[in-house]
Amino acid sequence: MNKLSKSFRVYKGKRVLVTGHTGFKGSWLCEWLLALGAEVHGFALPPPTRPSLFNQLRLSRRIKSHTVGDVRDLSAVKSVVRKVKPDFVFHLAAQPLVRLSYEKPVETFETNVMGTVNVLEAVRQAFCNGKSKCSVVCITTDKCYENRETSRPYREDDPMGGYDPYSCSKGCDELLISSYRRSFFGSPDSPVWVASARAGNVIGGGDWALDRIVPDCMRALAKGAPIPVRNKVSTRPWQHVLEPLGGYLTLGVALASRTRFADYAGGFNFGPDPRANRSVKDLVVEVLKWVKGEWIDKSDPNAVHEAGLLNLDIRKARRVLDWRPLWDFETTVKNTVLWYDEVRKGACPIDVTQRQIHDYLVVR
Ligand SMILES: NC(=O)c1ccc[n+]([C@@H]2O[C@H](COP(=O)([O-])OP(=O)(O)OC[C@H]3O[C@@H](n4cnc5c(N)ncnc54)[C@H](O)[C@@H]3O)[C@@H](O)[C@H]2O)c1
Repeated sequence: MNKLSKSFRVYKGKRVLVTGHTGFKGSWLCEWLLALGAEVHGFALPPPTRPSLFNQLRLSRRIKSHTVGDVRDLSAVKSVVRKVKPDFVFHLAAQPLVRLSYEKPVETFETNVMGTVNVLEAVRQAFCNGKSKCSVVCITTDKCYENRETSRPYREDDPMGGYDPYSCSKGCDELLISSYRRSFFGSPDSPVWVASARAGNVIGGGDWALDRIVPDCMRALAKGAPIPVRNKVSTRPWQHVLEPLGGYLTLGVALASRTRFADYAGGFNFGPDPRANRSVKDLVVEVLKWVKGEWIDKSDPNAVHEAGLLNLDIRKARRVLDWRPLWDFETTVKNTVLWYDEVRKGACPIDVTQRQIHDYLVVR
């Protein structure tokens, strides 16, 4: 058994509340937590896509409780936190799409900013006058930093910012998480320890979102059409979804240890090895090594602004958490494409997902 699998034993039998559990990352996280023997509870709106990984993994029947609710509704969030009394909260619920945030800025800010306030407030009210402890990991994004469009990777103490409403809402998240931590959870004897996790563009099987390159590839290839590529020169820190999830779980273990408060209760970047910072075109070309097809340049000079250059400095996660990315760019793309391919050919999505989680842990 490797080091990571051992440290994750902490989750066995623990009550874990995942917000956004019906989404892409939330579904992978639930599957991983189930494999670790955790008692998994979810709170989210219905799956945002059709098909959805949540339904493919039949999670509504496999997790302990599945609450359909809105993070903008404080009383609903308070009610689930009171009912579950979680040992861990992983807060993923969000409106996560940049282009949609231009169409729906108010909804994006309400969900992403007030949603996080409501989760932290519900935890504060449920735990701050009691003896139970709760470890909270809030998921933001690499886009929370003020983007200078330079090649220098962002460090955790760089200024928050965000050009588009999505990125800005996540920058706001980081500021409000820091405010809640300093105002209410600011000392090692606090019952609640809170950290935030900033990860880059994740890819992996079972993502069906609109406007993301891998689902775009899979949809086009299934129709026998060329893959439409909007921002071929934009570079992104591509990583397999298991990489940041491993980081979130590692961060949860660190918070629950109730040691090194100053080190653990803060923000962490979980990005890939710098060599995995590749352009969208490189990603598509790599995908096409595993499945037959073509791509077509759909660059639009009038497209809404999206960050061009975005790299994360991951030395803090390495130094403080002993976390590091495990799959290189080629392995990441291969496992992503094979997930879709095997499922399309009739393999059980639960089996494929569990096997990839197992393979990932074996590398450690
Ligand atoms: N996928 C990526 O590349 C990526 C990169 C960086 C950060 N993130 C962050 O990771 C998290 C999960 O992203 P994802 O890719 O799984 O997104 P997703 O769209 O697949 O899932 C979003 C989840 O949030 C829920 N949700 C949305 N609005 C809600 C509301 N008002 N109330 C309750 N639940 C609501 C949805 O039902 C769903 O469960 C988000 O916070 C996102 O910002 C994602």
